[in-house]
Amino acid sequence: MSTPKRYTITSALPYTNGPIHIGHLAGVYVPADIYARYLRITGNDVAFICGSDEHGAAIPMRAKKEGVSPQVIIDKYHTMIQQSFADFGISFDNYSRTSAKIHHETASEFFKKLHEDEKFIEETSEQLYDPEAKQFLADRFVIGTCPKCGHEEAYGDQCESCGSSLNATDLINPKSTISGAEPTLKQTKHWYLPLDQYEDFLKEWILVGHKKDWKTNVYGQIKSWIDDGLRPRAVTRDLDWGIPVPVAGAEGKVLYVWFDAPIGYISSTKEWAAREGKDWTPYWKDKDTKLVHFIGKDNIVFHCIIFPSMLKAEGSYILPENVPANEFLNLEGNKLSTSKNWAVWLHEYLEDFPEQQDVLRYALTANAPETKDNDFTWKDFQDRNNNELVGNFGNFINRIVVLTHKYYEGVVPTPNALSEVDQQTLAELKAYPAVIASSIERYRFREASQELLNVSRLGNKYLADEEPWKLIKTDPDRVQTVMYVGLQIAAALATLAEPFLPFTAQKLKNTLGLDATTATPWTAIATQEVLLAAGHTIQKGGLLFSKIEDSTIQQQLDKLAATKKANEVANKAVTPQKDTATFEDFTKMDIRVGTIIEAEKMPKAKKLLVLKVDTGINVRTIVSGIAAHFSPEEIIGKKVTVLVNLAPRKLRGVESEGMILMTETPDGKLVFLNPDEAGVQAGAVIS
Ligand code: 2FM
Ligand code: ZN
Repeated sequence: MSTPKRYTITSALPYTNGPIHIGHLAGVYVPADIYARYLRITGNDVAFICGSDEHGAAIPMRAKKEGVSPQVIIDKYHTMIQQSFADFGISFDNYSRTSAKIHHETASEFFKKLHEDEKFIEETSEQLYDPEAKQFLADRFVIGTCPKCGHEEAYGDQCESCGSSLNATDLINPKSTISGAEPTLKQTKHWYLPLDQYEDFLKEWILVGHKKDWKTNVYGQIKSWIDDGLRPRAVTRDLDWGIPVPVAGAEGKVLYVWFDAPIGYISSTKEWAAREGKDWTPYWKDKDTKLVHFIGKDNIVFHCIIFPSMLKAEGSYILPENVPANEFLNLEGNKLSTSKNWAVWLHEYLEDFPEQQDVLRYALTANAPETKDNDFTWKDFQDRNNNELVGNFGNFINRIVVLTHKYYEGVVPTPNALSEVDQQTLAELKAYPAVIASSIERYRFREASQELLNVSRLGNKYLADEEPWKLIKTDPDRVQTVMYVGLQIAAALATLAEPFLPFTAQKLKNTLGLDATTATPWTAIATQEVLLAAGHTIQKGGLLFSKIEDSTIQQQLDKLAATKKANEVANKAVTPQKDTATFEDFTKMDIRVGTIIEAEKMPKAKKLLVLKVDTGINVRTIVSGIAAHFSPEEIIGKKVTVLVNLAPRKLRGVESEGMILMTETPDGKLVFLNPDEAGVQAGAVIS
């Protein structure tokens, strides 16, 4: 463990265009929280910073979709997102929002400083313009074919398929996402950050300086962008939603969301410092501060190329010491998607699994997409809970607590001479804080979470080998020692679990009768001989975890199946229009109202019903393929529409003289075109 330092830890500011789901939690917020909690409890000075990203094209687009103003959207989702973070124990020191006054001021000042220092290129050029919506098109307002990989739905700023960062004018066959119109070109002035001028700095700083300590997925992406050659990047937009460009001659223009959002880390830090009566500047300007950005892989270019170039251009800020970006989490084999509702939303999870935040935190950490995309499955979630949290961690704590109450009325017994096994076990325990710390400090949170489980595994093995429940009759003195050693492991767990399972750690501390002052600090577990002293009384406490049944998991799977079905229905392609029919073609068809007067199943044919239909002309037989949807009884007496002059044809030996017209509901159920208006008679002609 290293000497205490000052840390500024940021986690990506979420867009306030929807709630938060497990992908966000697994990729960014849980690892960042584990890191921040670990650093705090090991004595470091930590500012863990976040806030809502409320600008950019996504917000007005969502507002348009919901038929409300952008302000309504950001207020709604900011509140919801902030609540979800609090519910899941994400321990931000400050959660701000980019619509805050302090942020508008900070971002404007930042822009003005670069402008005054002539760090921008001012250029008028032809940009994509939607002639119908009367709006310039950039970023999410335009899609087209990616010039790099051919993906047909690349956005104006980025291709989500190959990860390339794009300018809207790079797109092949661009189309407005507002109106669907083909854009025209129109002149407009913008301010550009000449990234090409920062290439040498970036190469030296990252490609040389951080080759060894940054994750290979992050390093690889940056290298490929730099190898591709960097180009000037516009940092302003023609939009009416965002921070107005704070210089003359920029009316109707706002800062590009990716210019203002990362500055949000700074303004959120300022907001926190002002509230706490602290000075914010060392957190961003002291070279001994470690700045770490937690993000998802789609944000790498912004945090490793654009923002550092902005900070370098400004000149007085530190650069990130690391950007441990994660890959993506999928859900049951498919990409998580807000628009397709393919997600486990945090607020919904809590409704279904109340007070089980730690289970999700743990499952997402143990299966985190650290080096490659990973899949969240409900089965894995259940197994992690039942086998690891209930079967391992919870089981150990339960046994030790129950036995302490059974044998000693909850009082930690006085140990007798420690055996070799006891000493060996306690020595192993002492090694864990450093082992877990080393994994966390290298951003290997999966590994760290497994080491935590190894601590309770150590406890379980110790109890299973020493069998105090057998010895209690024959050697009660030995049992005192065994229980004492077991209780030391439980006390260590109460501290070591805190970054990963904060709610559980608190419960465990309550059970063990520990609080912030009496629990052993992380850094002292390795050196302090006694973690829970003989004579100390513990509480009963309830179970830390409970088994999740198959039926509960099935409910979640059913919910996803329903979403999949709804998406299929929504996406079902409209059948293309048939060739033109002339008026004469149409008048050839004799469509009338008929009444079904008899109906029976066709023997040996699952789908067919044989109907007798009164067409007004006569009563005739019609064979209809509707047996899977209707029972004969329910349709007798129904008025239906019938094509009466269809050439007769034999179906299973029965001659059918007409066709009942039907249509289908989105979920595939057949329905009659039902002319059931009062007074419509069989034989009435439909024209
Ligand atoms: O991708 C996103 O969700 C962005 N809103 C992240 C912004 S991170 C930071 F720069 F603000
Ligand atoms: Zn692409």
